[in-house]
Amino acid sequence: MLSHIKEIAENIAPRLIEIRRHLHSHPELSGQEYQTAAYVAGVTSSYGLHVQELVGKTGVVAELPGAQTNLPILAIRTDMDALPIAECTELEYASHQPGIMHACGHDVHTTVGLGAAMVLAQLEKPLSGTTRFLFQPAEETAQGARWMIKDGVMQDVGAILGLHVLPTIPGSSVGIRYGALTAAADDLEIIILGESGHGARPHEAIDAIWIAAQVITTLQQSISRTHNPLRPMVLTIGQISGGRAPNVIADRVKLIGTVRSLHPETSEALPNWIERIVASVCQPHNAKYELIYRRGTPTLQNDPSLTQIVELAATEAWGRDRVQLIHEPSLGAEDFSLYLEHAPGMMFRLGIGFQDRPNYPLHHPQFEVNEAAIVTGVVTMAYAAWCYWRQVIS
Ligand code: NI
Repeated sequence: MLSHIKEIAENIAPRLIEIRRHLHSHPELSGQEYQTAAYVAGVTSSYGLHVQELVGKTGVVAELPGAQTNLPILAIRTDMDALPIAECTELEYASHQPGIMHACGHDVHTTVGLGAAMVLAQLEKPLSGTTRFLFQPAEETAQGARWMIKDGVMQDVGAILGLHVLPTIPGSSVGIRYGALTAAADDLEIIILGESGHGARPHEAIDAIWIAAQVITTLQQSISRTHNPLRPMVLTIGQISGGRAPNVIADRVKLIGTVRSLHPETSEALPNWIERIVASVCQPHNAKYELIYRRGTPTLQNDPSLTQIVELAATEAWGRDRVQLIHEPSLGAEDFSLYLEHAPGMMFRLGIGFQDRPNYPLHHPQFEVNEAAIVTGVVTMAYAAWCYWRQVIS
């Protein structure tokens, strides 16, 4: 079966490159993937899949029916959105949309999703159960998975697979991570409320800027003393605003930040801990505060048995040398984790690095992809799906 899958993928390789380049030159922002969705719907329906458009706002669901209809469905999720970045590559197929770029490789993900559908649709014998391809919008704004789930895409799903490109591993390699792949990411907003006054008479005012500075410092110091250092977390205040004039004491300062953690207990404890610190700094100075803590995406925990299926499939396909075990999780976020609240899942990394030139990171205006990775991604995904079904019916 593996050689058959490889052969089909090799046959469609030029078409896959063409698809990826088309997507790359026509990037669309989160929630606006209308052209991309129409294109994806066109390709999948031409291969006979049952296609539903406008799922999760601008998402597409394409189903490949299996031999048996009573088995839980295998979902394969890829994301479609691009970023508000002006592309600075010399590529002939660089973005045609000013200020918008596929700088996170979602064009590759979509191509791999399409390629896997094209390959699996061409097998002589259908897979045992139904495979549902989810082409998700708005991953970058952490909204798309929620929209898709709300529209019922996880109904009857028994397992879900996904992928994300990684420039730090060589093109055509596959990265496998057991356990947590990405972090829980929450949004934090703190407003310090003081009292305005003359800059020369601080004792008659409550200086919200001075208190905000203490809040930030105390939060960062407290992390090192109150959290288990073996359980990673990071708090970043990325935006601060307040004050109107050099000689007027500010009565209001707003701090906006992001909080990342890996362990559920840490994640659980964060809002109370932050509030305690903010309250303990504000109180002695008679300042008030408002605190808004918004839960974002949870930690992405790869399911052990699905991870093993993908690892074995990739190793059989490419050999040990091209399969890397990833030893450290990332504190980045990925809304694929939301699907895992409904079914076990696994996201693998697809290496897209070049060996002979510098590799720019994700979200960089010069980010480029080693396109040799596309067939690797397609074969890995398609063969992992086949191995999954073999295991389900055995
Ligand atoms: Ni991404």
